[in-house]
Amino acid sequence: MNGGDPQGWSAVASGWAELWGGFAEPVWRAVVDASGAGPGTVVLDVGCGSGDLLAHLDKLGTSTAGIDPATGMVELARTRVPNTDLRVGSAEHLPWPDASFDLVTSINALQFADDTLDALAEMARVVKPGGYIAISNWAEDDRNDLNTIENAVARAAGEEPLPDGDLRLPGGLQQLLADGQLDVVSSGLIDVPWAAADDNDLVSAVLLGEDPSAIEAEAPTVVEAARPFRTRSGSYHLNNAFRYALGRPRG
Ligand SMILES: C[S@@+](CC[C@H](N)C(=O)[O-])C[C@H]1O[C@@H](n2cnc3c(N)ncnc32)[C@H](O)[C@@H]1O
Repeated sequence: MNGGDPQGWSAVASGWAELWGGFAEPVWRAVVDASGAGPGTVVLDVGCGSGDLLAHLDKLGTSTAGIDPATGMVELARTRVPNTDLRVGSAEHLPWPDASFDLVTSINALQFADDTLDALAEMARVVKPGGYIAISNWAEDDRNDLNTIENAVARAAGEEPLPDGDLRLPGGLQQLLADGQLDVVSSGLIDVPWAAADDNDLVSAVLLGEDPSAIEAEAPTVVEAARPFRTRSGSYHLNNAFRYALGRPRG
């Protein structure tokens, strides 16, 4: 699936929520700790997907807003956080006035923007003076068991695995913040483990968004490549990592 395609994300909204939606929770906790978000903090989540981070923030007593270009994702998020100001739209055009939020987050989403610096500039525009921007993304390939599986699928299809994007490399998120005229306040590498109950969940999650014939053809490769991560009970445990960086507009 093309990560910048809203229709593709809409089609997999419920599958994303079920299989992946909550797995970045260690990152959410790091961002909340680093920013001090709590009751009364006004937060916008950009590329909010199925609303999992928003639900987490809602429980902490923050005031939340979210935006995502995938209508299906936003509709699902509305059922989970009905009191949140949820809009359909992209990071590059945020429909809120300047200086609206104490914290603007984007977790595993900014890499899909057509222009990450434009998107970051929009995020900086809507943050209040002294507020924070938190961005996070998968760490580089060799820290992620998921990539071992995805790379096996690519090779089986005769393709070379894609190289790491800049945002995944050590220092990549900090460089983006600096390029966007933000001071880096904190950053970190966070373990983000992921588990699948059985072969079926594993294949559904790894091949989310693929058409049924591709899933049928690629499933044996997925199961074979995931063998090192299989537990005795037949479930799977994958070790992965995300990086995050928290920034503050200069001035
Ligand atoms: C991998 S999902 C992550 C969703 C959520 N942030 C999470 O961590 O569960 C990526 C999300 O980014 C959204 N997205 C794609 N392009 C975007 C853009 N230009 N601006 C904002 N969000 C975008 C997709 O629609 C999708 O919901």
